[in-house]
Amino acid sequence: MKIHVLTLFPEIFRGYLEASILGKAAERGLISLNLVNIRDYALDKHRTCDDAPYGGGAGMVLKPEPLAAALEAVGAAAAGDHGRRVVYLTPSGRLFDQELAQKLAGEDELVLLCGRYEGIDQRIIDTFVTDEVSIGDFVLSGGEVAAMVVIDAVARLVRGVIKEDSLEEESFAGGLLEYPHYTRPEEFRGLKVPQILLSGHHAEIARWRLKRRLEKTAKFRPELLKEMEFSADIRDYLESLQEEGEANGYHQSD
Ligand code: 6GU
Repeated sequence: MKIHVLTLFPEIFRGYLEASILGKAAERGLISLNLVNIRDYALDKHRTCDDAPYGGGAGMVLKPEPLAAALEAVGAAAAGDHGRRVVYLTPSGRLFDQELAQKLAGEDELVLLCGRYEGIDQRIIDTFVTDEVSIGDFVLSGGEVAAMVVIDAVARLVRGVIKEDSLEEESFAGGLLEYPHYTRPEEFRGLKVPQILLSGHHAEIARWRLKRRLEKTAKFRPELLKEMEFSADIRDYLESLQEEGEANGYHQSD
């Protein structure tokens, strides 16, 4: 997969993406990253990329001409022309999730557009952008960190980047949070690894892990359980957790 990133700060991306699993995927030719500095497409000698908003108000807006030129240089077509997907990272977009990561991982090429300042000229969104995406309900100073989040989540789903079985087991695969993990030593500062994990009883271990996933999901993300269908014994277990929770008066602290 080829990922084009349009940004005023291409240098931010290099260290993170060259390290880790993504660097290896790049070396193996599975992922390639094309970092494009929007400023290289500015028209005037000062290489101006932003200007004051029409109608007044605080902050600056990214001008349309450099953005359009940079987008066209990476082969982005007008939205609706069935060109490649152009994802604009903005706190006012739809929430990014694993399902969208899966969809984006199926593309051969992606264009990620990072905003800065107060935003970008709306006509660029109307003309080129196919997806407006936010990574959560908080405000970052620019789209770059969000773009790295999207690149990481998408790239690891590209076939061959990581082992398929690690993908199946992780949080959100199957809509539940992950069970707790332990490794050697068997006792650490007086804390023992749960006995069941040392027992070699695979079916019992699988059941223990499922229970821990259900508990964790009920505690931190109860809304994830609402949409899921469970067998009668799991429903009973979830009900017993709820009763226990009510009896203990536990709730997640803010
Ligand atoms: Cl995509 N951009 C910015 N600037 N802030 C955000 C975000 C994106 N997602 C959450 N907060």
